[in-house]
Amino acid sequence: MDLPFAENYKIKMVEPIYRSTREEREKWIHQAHYNLFNLKSNQVFIDLLTDSGTGAMSDRQWGALMTGDESYAGSSSYFHLKEKVKSIFGFDYFLPVHQGRAAENVLFSVLVKEGQLVPGNSHFDTTKGHIEFRKAKAIDCTIDEAFDTNGMHPFKGNISIDKLTQVLEQHPREQIPMIIVTLTCNSSGGQPVSMKNLREIREVADHYQIPVIFDSARFAENAWFIQNREAGYQNKSICEIVTEMYQYADGMTMSSKKDGIVNIGGILAMRREDWYQQATVYNIMFEGFITYGGMAGRDMNALAIGLEEVTDGAYLENRIRQVHYLGNQLIELGIPVQKPLGGHAVFVDAKRFLQQVPKEEYIAQTLAIELYLEAGVRGVEVGTLLADRDPLTKANRYPQLEFLRLAIPRRTYTNNHMDVVAAGLKNIFDRRDQITRGFRIVEEAPIMRHFTVKLKRK
Ligand code: F0G
Repeated sequence: MDLPFAENYKIKMVEPIYRSTREEREKWIHQAHYNLFNLKSNQVFIDLLTDSGTGAMSDRQWGALMTGDESYAGSSSYFHLKEKVKSIFGFDYFLPVHQGRAAENVLFSVLVKEGQLVPGNSHFDTTKGHIEFRKAKAIDCTIDEAFDTNGMHPFKGNISIDKLTQVLEQHPREQIPMIIVTLTCNSSGGQPVSMKNLREIREVADHYQIPVIFDSARFAENAWFIQNREAGYQNKSICEIVTEMYQYADGMTMSSKKDGIVNIGGILAMRREDWYQQATVYNIMFEGFITYGGMAGRDMNALAIGLEEVTDGAYLENRIRQVHYLGNQLIELGIPVQKPLGGHAVFVDAKRFLQQVPKEEYIAQTLAIELYLEAGVRGVEVGTLLADRDPLTKANRYPQLEFLRLAIPRRTYTNNHMDVVAAGLKNIFDRRDQITRGFRIVEEAPIMRHFTVKLKRK
């Protein structure tokens, strides 16, 4: 008999979680104005709101916290991390920042000006927010296949070279400060970008002399997909694949709360010294001195080790297997999800799940609330609420896809927890025809409204 697959770690410390009743959850979600961000963590049984900063550190990482160097300037923890960034990504110039959006803020302060265009693959909302905040525009050039959740394209994070070329052809070079490639592409379902696509983007960028920046939040998961899905990479190590990926970039922003496997932190790194010189000024203004950014020395230590652990093939095998363990259960139950399954989350196709709820009533949010009520599981809406209103017309921007994202924290839950999530969704799926109404907004912020929006049942 073949030995079954099992986690390549054992558990040294546990954190109790409370399994609430449906009555309690009815009360709590009402008090939270039907916004899952407003729930207290102890009102949630299984928290799949995000995989960001919610992972479990290893004993080596916890050990490294004790030897963090908290010197204001010249901390050894900074040099430790700088060496890791150089060895994994190949960039000489590095600035620590407190999280991913801080890296965006610093870099875009250098590069992005009013009226410019930033093409990319379904930019993450903070990325788009930082672009639009500067009165520039994010242009989505993701391949069309990404918007058909049933199509089995292996790299739905890819940029359409045709769409990209069109943008670059139709605008002067000065209007395009950079191309941003998000690895993996969170907004399209944790979908990877192929090495071939990265190479082609580089060729086009070189032709038009436009820099390429990688949003690297889940770079290692992207490398795992290249190893597993792209011809010619099966026998390459994750580190070798990452090295090749980053040859095609001029710089990177990274939320290290994901593939850094730490609870807070970020990286900004680049090849060009002139950018670095300008970025240091903004880093000092917004984040902190250049050798700590927004991070404590101990956190930089833990991050350096997290980067080592995340690029280990055995770790990634466990990680992605768990995400796919949940995703495959849902597929077997007939529940519509983004296929093929992505890296950090299972994205449930809410439009196909709840076919009766009108789009004006926030379909994916409706499903997210149903799942919370059913099983105490907190997912997150990646749909109309997240898409915000058009900055000019103020009309709702209805995205092509309405997802309920179930993001799985790294090394945190067991497969028994995944079974609860699947059973909860199955119960809702069985009675989906009875769910016909959603929600209306009673209060919302002008930008990034999904965090604070207040809703009422229709
Ligand atoms: N880029 C991507 C692709 C992200 O997924 C995120 C965060 C960021 C940038 C910003 O990083 O949160 O450290 O400031 N994504 C989280 C999520 C919030 O839940 O997907 P941050």
